[in-house]
Amino acid sequence: MKRIGVLTSGGDSPGMNAAIRAVVRVSIYNGLKVSGIKRGYEGLLKGDIVDMDISSVGDIIHRGGTKLGTARCEEFKTDEGIDKAIEILRLFGIDGLVVIGGNGSLTGAKRLAEKGFPTIGIPGTIDNDLAYTDYSIGFDTAVNTVVNAISNLRDTSSSHGRVNIVEVMGRDCGDIALYAGLAGGAESIIVPEIESSYDEICRKLISGKNRGKLHSIIILAEGAGDAYGLQNHILSKIDIESRVSILGHLQRGGIPTALDRMLASRFGAKAVELLIEGKEGRTVGIKGNEIIDVDIYEALAMEKEINKDLYDLTGMLAI
Ligand code: F6P
Repeated sequence: MKRIGVLTSGGDSPGMNAAIRAVVRVSIYNGLKVSGIKRGYEGLLKGDIVDMDISSVGDIIHRGGTKLGTARCEEFKTDEGIDKAIEILRLFGIDGLVVIGGNGSLTGAKRLAEKGFPTIGIPGTIDNDLAYTDYSIGFDTAVNTVVNAISNLRDTSSSHGRVNIVEVMGRDCGDIALYAGLAGGAESIIVPEIESSYDEICRKLISGKNRGKLHSIIILAEGAGDAYGLQNHILSKIDIESRVSILGHLQRGGIPTALDRMLASRFGAKAVELLIEGKEGRTVGIKGNEIIDVDIYEALAMEKEINKDLYDLTGMLAI
């Protein structure tokens, strides 16, 4: 292992820069050279690759987004795309690759490993939808962004006595909604993994209204339904004012939290260590507070489950 390549792929997430920094610096610390691949697999297929040194990752640990850029790439999903990528990696003298990204990006890493190219994955996605790891880079920052938004909305919600419906990201995973809803004191949380009854939510609003409580925050995960549909349902059942906020891509940016920077730094270091040890086809993660590495095929085959205890706790706290 003489030269390591690093790329970020798929949706960006706050903390990716800290992971790039760790990969570059731990590699250089160990006497290796590093290539930065621009715009994920798309840049790889175009040979958009630059040398990285210690200073190329200076002053980025606190910045959201990704210095290397990112993209979603259809061509890379084909067999020809993978073969071409390996050819280009070899042409640039890259012996091992670190891929930072979510589900789709790690699937790409798995396919490179399948074809014999030493590749290690690092989970970087705000969705936190990878089952093998407790957390992925960017999730904590996104949750904090949503919690701040809930606090702001709570002010106006209670002042006006309104229901505020907040739609959050997460694709098919309800973790952002669950964690932010719990930390933000939401009255109801709707996630794709657990069936929710809109009528039940309305009953709760009516019982609140009967006690004189008009304001309420409802967090809806994007994979669990449509915020305006829910608003219309509420309107059809109760005489109460409501407003919808779709937080959207706000959740993908911002200064990464200390937790995300720590996680990213530890993941980056571990990925480089694995390549130095001659390991390949693995992906790093965290269980408890321990950094782990898992066979990438097994990791991606695991099914993510929602934390039912946290969900129940939210219900108890919002009686
Ligand atoms: O996977 C991260 C994510 O932000 C999801 O939560 C969301 O559904 C999706 O990406 C949005 O994708 P795009 O940035 O391509 O619109």
